Amino acid sequence: MENVKKNPKRVVLITGASSGMGLAAAKLFARHDWIVYAGARHVEQMHELEIRGINVMALDVTNKESNRIFVNTAKMEQHQIDVLINNAGFGEFGSLEEVPTKKAENQFMVNLFGLSQLTHFVLPTMRCQHRGRIINISSIGADLYSPFGGWYYASKAALNQWSDVLDSESRRFGIRSIIVQPGPTKSNWSKVAFKNGFKNLPKNSPYQTLAKRFIDVFGQLSQSSPATAEDLAQIFYRAATDTKPKYRYYNSLTDHALVSLTRHFPRTYRKVIHQVFK
Ligand SMILES: NC(=O)c1ccc[n+]([C@@H]2O[C@H](COP(=O)([O-])OP(=O)(O)OC[C@H]3O[C@@H](n4cnc5c(N)ncnc54)[C@H](OP(=O)(O)O)[C@@H]3O)[C@@H](O)[C@H]2O)c1
Repeated sequence: MENVKKNPKRVVLITGASSGMGLAAAKLFARHDWIVYAGARHVEQMHELEIRGINVMALDVTNKESNRIFVNTAKMEQHQIDVLINNAGFGEFGSLEEVPTKKAENQFMVNLFGLSQLTHFVLPTMRCQHRGRIINISSIGADLYSPFGGWYYASKAALNQWSDVLDSESRRFGIRSIIVQPGPTKSNWSKVAFKNGFKNLPKNSPYQTLAKRFIDVFGQLSQSSPATAEDLAQIFYRAATDTKPKYRYYNSLTDHALVSLTRHFPRTYRKVIHQVFK
């Protein structure tokens, strides 16, 4: 795949393209003359992509048939797939005691198993081409953590490991698996995570006080976030086109530093979390 820039006709599949980073990425890749297949459940939110000549498809990443049709359509129409961007994802927030197991399973279905199915479908084509990139949109929450994000962080931490193993297996075929770790970014993501968090918090919950503190801290964080979906789309594009791609991409030095510090000083991080949420 190191010659991706030399290929005049490049094909990218992007999941979660009805809003936020996926939507911004679909537009950016199309502007760079890529053939774009953009998938999400809410296709009614994707008219502006259709107008730009982007192939808009209904896609539910938790549905195997839907994943198969998404990939096969691109394969049959273009006979090649250069990049798959596994971007669809959401946060099933709530305390580990109170999030129902079914919802936790669905969190992993969307954030991990769905994208692994999509990847299975593109790998044979990429192997035949001797090139391809799988770009997996994780989170700095794969390394950092806080109360109420347990299942979300666990799914993203699992994704990081999954991606590194895939890279170690598929690199010999010219295929790279890459992680992008966004920090707080303006999009629908936090609205969905908060909405789920409220649904998962019973009125008489023993976690009410902690929830109030969480809302304060995260409310401030998401409002002060300097990153936009368009910033992240630029990072996706770099991950798709860098001649020598990195294992990890970050949007800012702060995001990178936070991940490194958490990894190197886990006790300090634990103390900070304890202080902030005590
Ligand atoms: N925003 C942040 O602060 C932040 C930080 C770190 C990581 N991330 C990660 O970045 C990625 C993009 O998030 P975003 O910020 O752009 O959020 P967003 O605006 O909420 O977009 C999420 C996208 O995922 C799609 N999606 C959700 N469930 C799906 C399913 N079952 N099948 C197909 N598509 C599905 C949604 O489309 P439909 O509902 O139409 O299906 C939507 O297009 C996610 O993986 C997220 O976890 C976000």
